[in-house]
Amino acid sequence: MGARSVVLAAGILVGMLVLGGGVRSGRADGYRWTLPEGLGPPPVPPDNPMSEEKVALGRRLFADVRLSFNRTTSCATCHDPARELTDGLPRAIGASGEPHARNTPSLWNVAYNVTYTWIDQGLDRLEDQLRLPLTGTSPVEMGFGPGQVDVLAADPEIAVLHRAAFGDAPLDETTVVQALASYVRTLIRMDSAFDRRLYWDDPSDFDATAASGMALFFSERLGCGHCHAGLHLSGPTAEPGRAVMPVFHRTAVSDSSESFRAPSLRFVGRTAPYMHDGSLATLAEVVAFYERGGGRDAERLRPFALSPAERAALLAFLASL
Ligand code: HEC
Ligand code: HEC
Repeated sequence: MGARSVVLAAGILVGMLVLGGGVRSGRADGYRWTLPEGLGPPPVPPDNPMSEEKVALGRRLFADVRLSFNRTTSCATCHDPARELTDGLPRAIGASGEPHARNTPSLWNVAYNVTYTWIDQGLDRLEDQLRLPLTGTSPVEMGFGPGQVDVLAADPEIAVLHRAAFGDAPLDETTVVQALASYVRTLIRMDSAFDRRLYWDDPSDFDATAASGMALFFSERLGCGHCHAGLHLSGPTAEPGRAVMPVFHRTAVSDSSESFRAPSLRFVGRTAPYMHDGSLATLAEVVAFYERGGGRDAERLRPFALSPAERAALLAFLASL
C-alpha cells in the first residue's frame, strides 16, 4: 500500500494532498517555511506577518526566564523541548508555585489549531492565547509586566534581535507576543514513525502491529477516528482563508461535565500524563478508560472489549504517532 492509499484508507486527511516523499521549502508571505511535501503553510494573521527576524527573536524569548516576574519560568519550562514541548506534570505549575487547572499540551503543529487551550471555543489566534501564560493572573503562569519589558529592552543581545525584527518600534508586550507567536508557528514537526509511513512511504518503524492498531483506531467498533481525525488526529485543522468550525466533546474524564477539544495525538507516546487534568498516567490507562466507555454521561463513547493482542496493537499505533 503506497503512502497515498494509507492516507485514504485511514480516512484521516481533511483538505490535504499527499503528493509524494520529501521535504519542501516554500516561500509564502516572504517567509521560508520548511514543511513536509503536501502540507501547506498554516494561517498567519495579516497584522503579524512571518519574518525570519521575528522568529529568531521569538526563539530567544521562548527560553528566557526573564519573561517571568521572579526569573524562574520561561515558556520552555512548561513546554520543554526535551519532553515534546510538555512538562511531564499532571497539571502545570506557574512561576509563583500556583497550580494550573490543566495539563500542559505539546506545542508541535499548533499553528494549524482551529482554537487554543483545551476548552476555549473562541480563542482562535496564537497572539491572543499567548497573553494568558504571559500576563494571566488566575493562575499566575509568568507574571510578565512592565518590569520584564524594561529588563529585556536593556539586554543588548535582545535589543539587536528586536531592532532586526521590529525596526525602531520599542520593545513592549505586543512585540514580545508577536515574536513569540511567529516562533511558535514554526514548531511544525511531522517525522514520527507514522509520518514516515505516511509521507515517505517508509514502513521501517511502522510494523504490522502498528498497522493493525491503526485499523482498530479507525474502525467503527472503536470509533477513535470519529473525533481524532485530520492532520493531527485532533479533529479539524485550520487552513488559510477558510473558516473552520471547532469541535468539542465530553469524554467525562474524572466525570467532568465540560466539553474539551480532542487534543493532537502526535508524539503522544512521549507526552504523559494525559487528558485536560493529567488524570490518566499512561496510554494504557487512556485505552482502559475508552474500553469502559469513558466517564459518567460521556457523549458518543460506548464500551468495547479488546483482546490483549488488540490492546497491544492499539498502543503500538499510538506510540507511532
Ligand atoms: C506554567 C506553565 C506554562 C507556561 C510558563 C507556559 N505555558 Fe503554554 N500552556 C500551559 C498550559 C497548562 C496550557 C493549557 C491551557 C488551558 O487549556 O487552559 C498551555 C497552552 C498553550 C498553548 C495552546 C496549545 C493548544 O494546543 O491549545 C500555547 C500555544 C502555549 N501554551 C504557548 C506558550 C508560550 C509561547 C509560553 C511562553 C510565553 C507559554 N505557553 C508558557 C502551560 C504553560
Ligand atoms: C467523542 C470523541 C472522542 C472519541 C470517540 C475518542 N476520543 Fe480520545 N479524546 C477526546 C477528547 C475530547 C479528549 C480530551 C478529553 C479531556 O481531556 O477531558 C481526548 C483525549 C485522548 C487522549 C489523550 C491525549 C493527551 O495528550 O492527553 C488519547 C491518547 C486519546 N484521546 C485516544 C483515543 C483513542 C485511542 C480513542 C478510541 C478508543 C479515542 N481517543 C476516542 C475525544 C474523543
